[in-house]
Amino acid sequence: MTTILATWNEPGKVAIEAAWAARRRGADLISCLEAGLAAAEKDPTLVAIGLGSLPNADGELELDASMMDGRTLNAGAVCAVRGIVPVISVARRVMERTPHVMLAGEQARRFAIAEGFRPENLMTPAAIERYEAWRHDRSLEREYVHAIEESHDTVTMLAVESTPEGPHCVAASSTSGLAFKLPGRVGDSPIVGAGIYADDEVGCAGATGMGEELWKACASFRTVENLRRGYTPQEACNDTVRHMLRRQPRSREFPCVVFALGRDGSYGAASTLGDFPLWVGVDDVPRLETYPALSAEPA
Ligand code: GLY
Repeated sequence: MTTILATWNEPGKVAIEAAWAARRRGADLISCLEAGLAAAEKDPTLVAIGLGSLPNADGELELDASMMDGRTLNAGAVCAVRGIVPVISVARRVMERTPHVMLAGEQARRFAIAEGFRPENLMTPAAIERYEAWRHDRSLEREYVHAIEESHDTVTMLAVESTPEGPHCVAASSTSGLAFKLPGRVGDSPIVGAGIYADDEVGCAGATGMGEELWKACASFRTVENLRRGYTPQEACNDTVRHMLRRQPRSREFPCVVFALGRDGSYGAASTLGDFPLWVGVDDVPRLETYPALSAEPA
């Protein structure tokens, strides 16, 4: 059995369909998640991630991505990369071709170019228009509201498969980060333990939403460790989100989401604010599920 999860409605659909298409061609889990996120990054009609997504306050796209292999605990990530897609593929190369976990900014871009990626302008006419609209109508209040509204833009994917050696899981994430962020700002998505975590011993978890809060909570690692304590994926996510609601008051003001996938294919998700749409594909039939925000106290 193989189960694949992907966050958010539109970009998640593109990602999970591409991941299953790769699976049908015989791809392994790492390649499936890379194919899924790469497809969403390269789609210029998606405001979500990669090409044509929303830039920083200077009008430049700075992309983050990460991947973790639950079998080996190997991980690769890049952050604040300009002018390269798909950055998930660069993150994979960091994982597989270097002894490091993360490369940042211009040096990550240089690594990508040395690996054969072609630099390109990622700002589409639609993205420039949205940036100009924001720039000409900015006030602190509007910036804040825009940032929240525009930032459902991380696609995080989790996958688990049954193998003769036991269950195997992979986690991966790609994002353009908070819309109109300060140049150089990095959120949770490329941070192993915050945006993603995977360990074949127990399962995997991912995050999406306000990166600062998710990072402070080490949301993905916390959730995977909850699985290790014997929680179901839903209980593990609920515990992480309730911890955030209790200890991090700002997490109540922005959507902060964690989701988890256990070794047995069971899964769950929880959000601090707003409904959260999650694509779930079990052996090739993706469907959209919606998780309402959690209250601070258990029912
Ligand atoms: N969760 C994406 C970010 O805050 O950058």
